[in-house]
Amino acid sequence: MTDRPAPPIIELQEVWKSFGPLDVLRGVDLAIRPGATTVIIGPSGCGKSVLLKHMVGLLHPDRGRVRFDGRDIAGLGETALRPVRRRIGFVFQSGGLFDSMTVQENVCFPLAEHRHGSSDEWADRCREALRVVGLDGLQTTMPGQLSGGQRKRVALARAIVTDPDVILYDEPTTGLDPIRADLINELIVRLKTRARSTAVVVTHDMTSARKVADRIVMLYEGRFIADTTPDALDGIDDDQVRRFVQGQAAPEQLRDLQVVTRLTQGQSRTPTP
Ligand SMILES: Nc1ncnc2c1ncn2[C@@H]1O[C@H](COP(=O)(O)OP(=O)(O)OP(=O)(O)O)[C@@H](O)[C@H]1O
Ligand SMILES: [Mg+2]
Repeated sequence: MTDRPAPPIIELQEVWKSFGPLDVLRGVDLAIRPGATTVIIGPSGCGKSVLLKHMVGLLHPDRGRVRFDGRDIAGLGETALRPVRRRIGFVFQSGGLFDSMTVQENVCFPLAEHRHGSSDEWADRCREALRVVGLDGLQTTMPGQLSGGQRKRVALARAIVTDPDVILYDEPTTGLDPIRADLINELIVRLKTRARSTAVVVTHDMTSARKVADRIVMLYEGRFIADTTPDALDGIDDDQVRRFVQGQAAPEQLRDLQVVTRLTQGQSRTPTP
């Protein structure tokens, strides 16, 4: 008997999403296999955050299906979504900490929201989550007193406090220096090993993508144009993928830049009265 691959924990089928005239997702298909880390790359504004929000029901598709553990969540309301959300940790692009709450209150927020355990357990769970991210002891600190890297780690602690099956990370390393970014990458890798959880990471940070990914997919103009492993990424024969991965602007973008340069040079030659 051959081993069948485990069914996907999250599955998007033919997902379409527009905002007014803007078609952001144009028939996206993606199956997230359990126990692996899938990294979604793609240019700014291409719809990566929109895609991630569909996975937790924060956005609903205009057309298509979104399944979590086999169940279609595309049209579910807030109450019906609660058991699904309990199984998913979400690290928001902005961090999303509440500035008026202490670190502990922020970390415990999902426990309160899901009425998960007794309040006596919350302090223990919070300590454990903060210990994992190396911030135990900062429970009573206010987010405004934290560095950018610490805020990201508190957001991560909040995402893992319910022991989720899946963690979704939206730009977890953006805005951090390379050392602190590496610390977050290391945490993502360790969390997956420790909890055998599934992760989906949205990033434009290629160092991070290569370090944490089992699989890398690239979103471009509303569809996936690459689905590969970190090792095979450099061998992909597609201009858009190659430019993105190597951080090179397209010729037409450089032409736009020449126009700007000519304009500014023209201005500087204008004689002052
Ligand atoms: N709620 C919304 N209402 C209207 N437009 C939206 C909404 N959410 C996203 N958009 C638009 O959808 C497009 C994709 O946005 P999204 O935030 O997913 O991009 P992204 O790939 O995550 O970009 P970045 O890398 O800069 O974070 C953008 O043009 C954005 O302005
Ligand atoms: Mg985004």
